[in-house]
Amino acid sequence: MSLHFVGQFPAYRPRRLRQTPALRALMRETHLNASHLVLPLFARTGRKLRRPVAAMPGVFQLSPDELLREATQAHQAGVPAVLLFGLPEAKDAKASGAYASNGIVQQTVRLLKKHLPQLLVITDVCLCEYMEHGHCGVVHKSAKDARILNDPTLDLLARTAASHVEAGADMVAPSDMMDGRVGAIRQRLDRLGFTDTPIMSYAAKFASAFYGPFREAAESAPQFGDRRSYQMDPANANEAMREVALDIHEGADILMVKPALAYLDILQRVKQEFGYPTAAYSVSAEYSMVKAAAANGWIDERALTLESLLAMKRAGADILITYAATDAARWLKEG
Ligand code: PBG
Repeated sequence: MSLHFVGQFPAYRPRRLRQTPALRALMRETHLNASHLVLPLFARTGRKLRRPVAAMPGVFQLSPDELLREATQAHQAGVPAVLLFGLPEAKDAKASGAYASNGIVQQTVRLLKKHLPQLLVITDVCLCEYMEHGHCGVVHKSAKDARILNDPTLDLLARTAASHVEAGADMVAPSDMMDGRVGAIRQRLDRLGFTDTPIMSYAAKFASAFYGPFREAAESAPQFGDRRSYQMDPANANEAMREVALDIHEGADILMVKPALAYLDILQRVKQEFGYPTAAYSVSAEYSMVKAAAANGWIDERALTLESLLAMKRAGADILITYAATDAARWLKEG
């Protein structure tokens, strides 16, 4: 029917319908479900270790045995996936800990896959936690400045991703933002026979103040300078679309936008323009701000957390990565 007919009927006043829970459910456009949640976890060498991250109440650096406990609880609550970060025993200028076959992430992946084979284990692929200078790539220092070398970094990233998959990771998620890393990782995985292992690319990752608390959690703050030479300018949305298009071209299977709440416009455009499975990473400061306000009794933590996650889904996210995943899954189950 075309709008041609509209004029032939009397205009009705807009009305409020009689609301019942069943009608509301029928008409609801967006649904929040535990099956979309991913919980980030921080692994660190040791046993029975639970080191609280001060700026992120409820988040800990965990030894593999404790991380398994945390992952088990999340999984029982209905969270289908975790995203692993690692804190190595030692850092150096080659990020050796990132691709060591018995590195902290590799060990933890093996343990998780042994005890929780149904849990989807995603690994963050980056070098900043393993580099003595805390940058995401190889650094060239001269008398007058220091630069991040894009291309020499690619091989180390591909090695890191391959070692994660060899340990049993179900998916890799490169977060470094070097140009060409998705292609380099895809080629390496294919060459090793891991042709069916997906890549979730941090495709539009902005240079953001919202990562502050994470750098305490992952002990990955850059020792000099900042990440603006490889992360994106928060002012740029069209550039984000170009970054995403490049990652698709190189073989990304899932596209991530990060941070989430302050970047819902980017999330919406990525979903609408590319139609790929899309992930929103609700980053550390998004979590810390909620926790701080909740601790003061200023907000309703549960309502605010679920509303924020719903907004990310409404904007276009299929996958929600959040430090509140286990709580959110429990709240959703309670209804
Ligand atoms: C590593 C990485 C960071 C985050 C995820 N992977 C930090 C950064 O880029 O500085 C941030 C996650 C968060 O803040 O929760 N490159």
